[in-house]
Order: sequence, then C-alpha cells, then structure tokens
Amino acid sequence: MTQMPINMDHHWLPFTNNRLFHKEPQMFARAEGVRYWTPEGREILDGSSGLFTCAAGHGRKEIAEAVYKQLQVLDYSPHFQRAAPISFELAEALSGILPEGLDRIFFGSSGSEAVDSAIKICLAYHKAKGEPQRTRFVSRAWAYHGVNLGGTSLAGMVNNRRDFSGVTCDVVHMRHTWNEDQRFTRGQPEDGAWIAEDLEEICKTYGGETIAGVFVEPIAGSIGTIVPPVGYLQKLREIADKYGILLVFDEVITGFGRTGSAFAAQEFGVTPDVITMAKAITNGAIPMSAVAVKTEIQKAVIDSITADRPELMHGYTYSAHPVACAAALATLGIYKTEGLFERAASLSSTFLDGVFSFAICLMSTICVVMA
Ligand SMILES: Cc1ncc(COP(=O)(O)O)c(C=O)c1O
Repeated sequence: MTQMPINMDHHWLPFTNNRLFHKEPQMFARAEGVRYWTPEGREILDGSSGLFTCAAGHGRKEIAEAVYKQLQVLDYSPHFQRAAPISFELAEALSGILPEGLDRIFFGSSGSEAVDSAIKICLAYHKAKGEPQRTRFVSRAWAYHGVNLGGTSLAGMVNNRRDFSGVTCDVVHMRHTWNEDQRFTRGQPEDGAWIAEDLEEICKTYGGETIAGVFVEPIAGSIGTIVPPVGYLQKLREIADKYGILLVFDEVITGFGRTGSAFAAQEFGVTPDVITMAKAITNGAIPMSAVAVKTEIQKAVIDSITADRPELMHGYTYSAHPVACAAALATLGIYKTEGLFERAASLSSTFLDGVFSFAICLMSTICVVMA
C-alpha cells in the first residue's frame, strides 16, 4: 500500500478545512469497482461514485487502455483554428444520446467551465438575435453551478458566494422547490409546480426582455437531492418560452444515466435549450465537460458574424483534449455495451425500497423515542 505523504504543507486542498485535515488526514490510495482503499488498507464503500463521477465503477480497464493508446498516437492538439478527428467523433456520439435537437457540442474540462461557457453562449445568442440587452440570468436558491465566476454568481448557496460578492454578475434567484411535506416522498412530489411562477414574477419585476437565461439543476444535487415537483420543469419551459429566455439544464450530476435516462431532460420529458455536462462523461478518469446547445443557437451565433474572425470568442487550451475525448468515447462504449442507463432505471425501485426501509426504521425509532 502507498505510504502517507511526509509533508502535507504544500497542497492547499479545495473545499476543505485544511487545518482539520492536517490533524486527521483522510486519504484514498486505491480504487476498484465501488470501493476505495485507504493507505493503511481499510476498505471503504464509495456510496457517491467519487463526486458523482465514476458511474461505471472505478478502475475501468477499457478507459485506461483508450487513454494510453491515445497518448501514444496524439497526446495533445490545439483546438483554436485546428482540430483532431476524435473530438468530432465524440460530439456525434454525444448528440446521439442527448435530447433531439441539442446536437452542437462545445467542450471544456470541468463542470464550472461548462457553466461559464453556457453563460457566454446565451449572451452571444441573444446578441446575435439583436437583443444585446439580455444580460441578466435567473437561478435558484440552493443552486450549485460550479465555482468559476459565472457559476459563483448563479450559486444559491450563500457560503459559496459570501467571500466573492465583488466579482459576481447580475443574477436573480427563484425559490428552491423543497418543503417539509416532501420528506419521505417517493419520486416526484405532486405539489409544487406553482413555484415555477417565481420566474414569471421575476420577468414582471425586471423585464423578461432583460433576461438571457434561466439555469436549473433538474435535480438539485449539492445541498441534498431535491427532485422537482411534477410539472415544475414543464412550467419553467413554458414561462421561458413566453419571454424568449433560454432554459439551461445543468446536468453535471444528472447526466449519463443517473436518473435512468441518458439525461434528466429525457427522464422528465422537458427539453431545455442548453445542457451542461461533465463528471461521468469520462467516468471521472480524465477532466472533461461539454455544453450541448440546440442547432439554431449555434447557427444564430455563427451566421451573425460576417467578419473574418472566430464567431464565439471563447475557448480553453484543453477544450476537446484528445485524451479526454478517448476516455469519453470509451466511457460511452461501456454505458452502451453494459446497458448501464437501463440498469439504473431497473434498479431504481429496489434502491428506493431499501432507502425507504431506512426511513421507516428512522421514523419508528423517533416514534418509540417520543412514545
Ligand atoms: C450541477 C453542477 N454544476 C457544476 C458543477 C461544477 O463542476 P466542477 O466541479 O467539475 O467544476 C457541479 C459540481 O459538483 C455541479 O454539481
């Protein structure tokens, strides 16, 4: 087993109480399937598949081999005015599992980059359509959309915003959809679609014509797991359409079979204009993210630029990194050949039974304690 590092002073850990960590380090040295092992050899069940990343389990040889092969053939290629065939292959494969019409793909390396890229694409789209005044965004209380400046602005978790208020952009927040009556609800709560009216109210207060996009996680994932009430996402879709606002689903967690469909958009039967994704796109093995947009969004932006310059002045050194593309293609191959999305759907009921048996235990414990 790997030895503990001798000097831990130099790595500033993200989202971590570093002082506490130094007193009580928690390390993983190895992973396989659904388990981690600590440097001392203790086995730990990985109940959250990494950080919602490793949907096909840890240590997948198919991905390791694809990465190794790609590194030997083309380890890096720039994507500014250049490209490599493998990124087109991946974009086509992704559009094959995305909701119909979302078939133009922009690549980045993290969920945060995907969110900030989506913000810029919304702005570029409205400018292209002759509505440059649409610069405001709507998000939701308790939302998590990554930690870059756009995502920090969209954040509805106060601790993620508090220290950085000087740099955030113009975002108005709707309410989240959770209430106490939803405790122990199996599936989507019946009541709560009316909370989507917050978007209508915001449009009336600020002017719908000033709003570029509304960002939601179809299932909020960072502050608990908040499943949308029946009809809520549909209502957001209707109001967004009424005011010409782009609806963005941040599927960084919910993408790639987590709901039993490839994307939560398909599971809930609501097609947004933009979907952000990351994490399980490469099974967490190599950093990668993507933004999928409707064909007409990309077309509007491209057609609006007549000068000889890039249409979208945005991109990353590691956009569509060929090694990440190879990892993603191998991952999509595993999802397909092993039928993992269908498996998640078929296991859902058994899993819920298990979770609810805990809930009943907890409730009866509470009743016994209170009796
Ligand atoms: C919904 C959502 N959006 C964006 C992100 C940011 O992704 P990353 O940490 O890869 O930047 C996350 C991360 O958990 C997320 O859950």
